Amino acid sequence: MLFNETTRALLQILNRGGAYSGQALANEIGITRNAIWKQIESLKKNGIPILSNRQTGYQLLTPLIPLDIDDIKAELGKTANNTDINWHLFLDIPSTNGFLKSRTVERDTWDICLAEQQLKGRGRFNRDWHSPFAQNIYCSISWMYSGDSSDLSGLSLVVGLCILEALLSYGISSHELMIKWPNDIYIKDKKLAGVLIELSAESHYQTQVIVGIGLNVNMSEANIDKNWTSLCLEDGQTHNRNRLTSALLSNLLYQLSDYTKEKKNTLLKSWQTYDYLYNQSVSIQRHGNPIAGIAKGINENGDLILLLPSGETITCSSGEVSVKREK
Ligand code: BTN
Repeated sequence: MLFNETTRALLQILNRGGAYSGQALANEIGITRNAIWKQIESLKKNGIPILSNRQTGYQLLTPLIPLDIDDIKAELGKTANNTDINWHLFLDIPSTNGFLKSRTVERDTWDICLAEQQLKGRGRFNRDWHSPFAQNIYCSISWMYSGDSSDLSGLSLVVGLCILEALLSYGISSHELMIKWPNDIYIKDKKLAGVLIELSAESHYQTQVIVGIGLNVNMSEANIDKNWTSLCLEDGQTHNRNRLTSALLSNLLYQLSDYTKEKKNTLLKSWQTYDYLYNQSVSIQRHGNPIAGIAKGINENGDLILLLPSGETITCSSGEVSVKREK
């Protein structure tokens, strides 16, 4: 289900700014005042901040541009021309990753799923991913990887780097952006975006890869118990999610469509430039036990290198890392 023509027309008028009476909106769109009222109520129910005032009328407190596949494709331009893509856009869905998981994968075809809202957005370590309506980007991409599945070991870091580069090309300043191993995007000690990768191997040389990205864009309030931020909280601007999605997909399709071990090795070198954990005192949870040490970058597989208090160095291929703050 998607925004219908009437909702789009209504948002287009309200996005101009200022307040509009129910009658003025009804006249311009060509529907009844009662139909306008119903539309407004339904938008409000979905958490869209619309002010209703008897004297002045209806006013949108922050602009809302709906996700639009044609807009996204137009900005994607050349990158996507040679790629066969099945697009899926939902008003709401339990999880964009979940949707792609349930689809049959076509060889040489990419599936891209976007949603205005996720009802059961999933994060790493079985956590929920906060996915309110029309505020952020919830995007999953799926394709069949027909190389050696062991080459996918550093993929998760490559995806983090692709997101960071996309944000740079969109115009976010470089000194603020960092990657917390393996692929959380951070701005000033707060999480901006996360990645959930799910692999299902048909054989050693046929692996379905699903890359799910959650990027906090225009969200300004949320009940999340970790330090988080959004682009809007950082710069006070309302961002265009279609343009951002194009920037993300353009970079991801470019880097992932001919993913090879050699390409991964090159990309992992630039990953180190943005290493949020480098030289920090950290603790990593492995099989339920915390291991403390100093983070010392990554190896060629993308594993985290940890210097233990004993002077020994170990590598970790998975686990949740937290930074130990000085007291
Ligand atoms: C994390 O815990 O950091 C990963 C969060 C990944 C969230 C995204 S939103 C789009 C896709 N669909 C999901 O259910 N999860 C991922």
